[in-house]
Amino acid sequence: MRFCVLTLFPQMIEAGLHDSIFARALKRGLIELETIDIRDYTKDPHRRVDDYTYGGGAGMLMQAQPVYDAWKAAAERCTENTRTIYVTPQGRVFDQKLAAELSREENLIFLCGHYEGIDERVLDEIVTDRISIGDYVLTGGELPAMVMMDAVSRLVPGVLHNEESAETESFDNDLLEYPQYTRPERWHEKEVPPVLLTGDHRKISAWRLEQAKERTKEIRPDLYARYEYRQTVIKWLSRKKRQHIHMMELLKRGRGEALCFDPRDGALLLENGGAVMLTCTSAEAGERLLDQSPVDLSGRLFCVCQQEILPVLYERYGLTETRGCYQAYYTRGVPLPVPKDMDIRRLDISFAEEIFAEYHELVTFEELQDCLASGTMYGAFVRSETGEARLAGFIDTHSEGALGMLQVRPPYRGRGIAVALESFMINQALGRDEIPFGHIFEGNEASLQLQRKLGLNVTDVILWWVS
Ligand code: ADE
Repeated sequence: MRFCVLTLFPQMIEAGLHDSIFARALKRGLIELETIDIRDYTKDPHRRVDDYTYGGGAGMLMQAQPVYDAWKAAAERCTENTRTIYVTPQGRVFDQKLAAELSREENLIFLCGHYEGIDERVLDEIVTDRISIGDYVLTGGELPAMVMMDAVSRLVPGVLHNEESAETESFDNDLLEYPQYTRPERWHEKEVPPVLLTGDHRKISAWRLEQAKERTKEIRPDLYARYEYRQTVIKWLSRKKRQHIHMMELLKRGRGEALCFDPRDGALLLENGGAVMLTCTSAEAGERLLDQSPVDLSGRLFCVCQQEILPVLYERYGLTETRGCYQAYYTRGVPLPVPKDMDIRRLDISFAEEIFAEYHELVTFEELQDCLASGTMYGAFVRSETGEARLAGFIDTHSEGALGMLQVRPPYRGRGIAVALESFMINQALGRDEIPFGHIFEGNEASLQLQRKLGLNVTDVILWWVS
């Protein structure tokens, strides 16, 4: 991730971000930061960058030319995958979801305004997003740009260490975080809540959820209303849990949202990565849900629970490819054994070519790079005779939450590597209080056998992935 800030106060950005986790990530090369002084690009002999506003009005405006030239210098050093953000109170309000979306970009250019703003013509030409950090007015865009860079950078894979994990935190599922405590057990006559000392994982999780709900209800009733809506949909889906486990987990994990829901018709969900999930009580009910979608659904990948809706998707969205899958899920809650000597590690982007050589039928090279960049892929390594660690197999969690892409390279098959990799991923999911699940293409007997061996339930109903 590369940040570039166009500003009249570059020292402010550099001083503000040269400590803490952001600075550590800069040092480790996980993120890059460049500041460009807009004043260096003015053609005015007195280095002025502002002028009076046409039509009158208080204050001065930043002129188009220096802003444009500074932006051009920045854009030349960026790849095509770049967004230019104008930091302004007249923008969409920044939140955790937008932070997650921006963290998937390669380059972000922040344009910081001063005075009364910037000439609209240059904004029209260069800006892709106008973003505010809240309904209040600051003296310039530098602090908001720093706020956004901080929130975005901590979601870039590798920036946070495990113990600083970004996985369980406020806003992911519309709840604020529960209260936390550290030593000593008693401080100023106040005890740590006894349940936290029991070691009973289930009780602790239930207590934390209750606390998070109470807190959210009191402090952020708007968020709580969203949480309750989500719970209503999950409850409805749970009436056919075997069929809907993927949709329930999507909502529970905060990896998507309900676009439409009607207890008589069904539910239409949008996954954060862009895929659409639909379950409906009839083809007509499905059509009604699609009609009501507030988001354009054309060109998207669909996962549907009912075969009778397929012709509707073909007709409406010109989709052609359909693949049936069984759903496998693990509800025992007991961690699975992973051999101690199995060397399993998170994979980074440097493995893209090696993996693509093995696995290229279902993903493009760019998609594979995205999977690796998002930090969800793991690999098992085996030592060669010369002592080198070789990648023997790999597994991923898809953006909608299903385990997948499990592959063991031919020379390493028959050594329990697939079992170990999937068990490892299941254990990780259990640690996050998730129900691990996966989708297995019809006819993939080897995978179905593996799922049963590991103790997963395999449904006899089929889901349809349509693209
Ligand atoms: N510039 C001034 N105030 C701002 C705000 N609230 N958000 C973003 N940019 C700003």
